[in-house]
Amino acid sequence: MSSLHSIDLLVNPDDCDAYGHLSGPSLLRLFEKARWEAFAGGPEPDMFEPDKVWPLVRKTTLESYESAVAGNLVTIDTVLTNQGDSTFTLVQTAKRTHDGAIIAQGNFLMACVDGEGERVRVPPAVSQLFGTRPSLRPGETQYLALREVETAVDIQGDGRAILFVHGFPLDRTLWRHLIATLSGWQRIAPDLRGMGLSDAPDDGYTMADYADDLAALLDALRIEQAVVCGLSMGGYVGFEMFRRHRDRVAALILVNTRAEPDNETAKQGRDNMIALVEQDGAGALADVMIPKLLGPSSMAAMPRVIEHLRTMITASPGRGLIGALTAMRGRQDSTPLLPTIDVPTLVVAGRDDQLIPTSTTQSIANAIPGAQFTLIPEAGHVAPLEQPVAVSRVVGEFLESLG
Ligand code: MLT
Repeated sequence: MSSLHSIDLLVNPDDCDAYGHLSGPSLLRLFEKARWEAFAGGPEPDMFEPDKVWPLVRKTTLESYESAVAGNLVTIDTVLTNQGDSTFTLVQTAKRTHDGAIIAQGNFLMACVDGEGERVRVPPAVSQLFGTRPSLRPGETQYLALREVETAVDIQGDGRAILFVHGFPLDRTLWRHLIATLSGWQRIAPDLRGMGLSDAPDDGYTMADYADDLAALLDALRIEQAVVCGLSMGGYVGFEMFRRHRDRVAALILVNTRAEPDNETAKQGRDNMIALVEQDGAGALADVMIPKLLGPSSMAAMPRVIEHLRTMITASPGRGLIGALTAMRGRQDSTPLLPTIDVPTLVVAGRDDQLIPTSTTQSIANAIPGAQFTLIPEAGHVAPLEQPVAVSRVVGEFLESLG
């Protein structure tokens, strides 16, 4: 990670919305101005040559906290956090200069292109700013190029690694409570290809793709083995990891999942859902899925969780959702694998899961030698969101038991 110069910029009346606050588009303009000024003041003022290498903003995520008004001076810090062959990531933080309050933080994935728009390598001057190792700042979303797919991943903490794999149609933020609390472990939560902030390539998706992506993620982070913790579709990926990359799996945590493949009725259900996403988009999928994902008590009393689910579902591109449905439709039967699983395993089920009966999840624990089983009350299919404290405690105790 490398910091560039801080830049102070003034908020003008034109930068403000009808209520007098710095507007979103103006904030993005200030970030852009600050990064060019920061680059110009860096060790190599001409890092980019417009004819040969040009950094395009490929993806932006913005979190806003406080407002600024006309006349405020804003200090913008720019940090380079990660570098791939042709991409790099900048994190910019805007603070009110007079009181230091953070106005917003932006995460900008930059892709280097030439005059024709073709991808080219990151210029050496930028690489020199990084050194050779990708930086992993706690709690920050990193973008890594894995098997030619730009993959978003949250990483926090040091220690042995635990890799969290989300379900369908969700993303890495499913795990945010566990990521925040399981200290003593390096917590790693990627968005699977096609979901959340990761790219959605056009090719057909398979469970093998997801598992190979995760092995590539461990390679990129130089991690030999991780505890693999998957929820539902994430559990299907966990089984595939065990099948294809056995030596990378230190232990398994399987939450609200099943080992059986889709039967004909389930396959028909996948086809119907693919048609729904194609015709009506991710919003329609959210309408159908949310009442099934949550247990009745969460549905009645957890509006923030409902909102979070809707945000996750509608943020994923249709192509990625269809890719996941296709991958699940074609997945292998993992029941023959269960008796061969010889790593410590914890199986967790939400007692009110409407998508996968708890008896189905429990049968996984019955078939894996020595596996533990825990039932979480007042939780449906997305137990880590509905009962984050209970799930975190159960997972934490299991991790401790690994010694
Ligand atoms: C999931 O939560 O990942 C899905 O509901 C799994 C499935 O549809 O089989």
